[in-house]
Amino acid sequence: MHDLLAWLEASLIGHAMRGSGVWTYGVVNLFHILSIASLFGSILLLDLRLLGVWRNIPLAAISTPCVTVGAWGFVVATLTGIGLLATKATEYQSNPFFYIKIPAILLGLVNVAALSRLPAWKQHRTRELSAAEQSKLAVYGGISLACWFTAIAAGRMVGYW
Ligand code: HEM
Repeated sequence: MHDLLAWLEASLIGHAMRGSGVWTYGVVNLFHILSIASLFGSILLLDLRLLGVWRNIPLAAISTPCVTVGAWGFVVATLTGIGLLATKATEYQSNPFFYIKIPAILLGLVNVAALSRLPAWKQHRTRELSAAEQSKLAVYGGISLACWFTAIAAGRMVGYW
């Protein structure tokens, strides 16, 4: 891990982050936070619906906007996060919250990949789901909320270590 972080810190991104003015880190951090807000905001709505809240609203009515905003939020969070990390990457190697945050993000992604392979998810726009299928989707919604909440909590705590 040290070699990877040292490589990132010495990379062009690291040099650009450190050498392009005092506001660069702050502006990149601003976009990191905005993208996290978009990601978690959309995921929160979708996961609560999967967990059975607002059953009178069809899942198909909210899934497309939530997935689209969440996916873009994730892409921007990753790009800006790499920029923030590259600024002083080696300083994070002994930070325990960093080792909670990254696996939580990876687990969140595995959960999304598994959910998107379920027949119930693939077909939720074209047919009614059975009670058993809805219960299955609820499990994925719960795991998703736990993963992304953990990523945000650990991400916030990184700076306080
Ligand atoms: C590969 C992707 C990511 C990388 C490399 C990354 C890296 C970083 C770094 C280096 C910081 C600054 C920590 C400090 O204060 O010193 C940070 C802040 C933060 N990150 Fe990420 N991040 C990524 C994705 C995410 C995602 C997906 C989330 C949420 C789901 C997230 C949540 C946070 C939070 C809440 C903060 C604190 C922001 C603040 O209070 O200023 N990050 N991230």
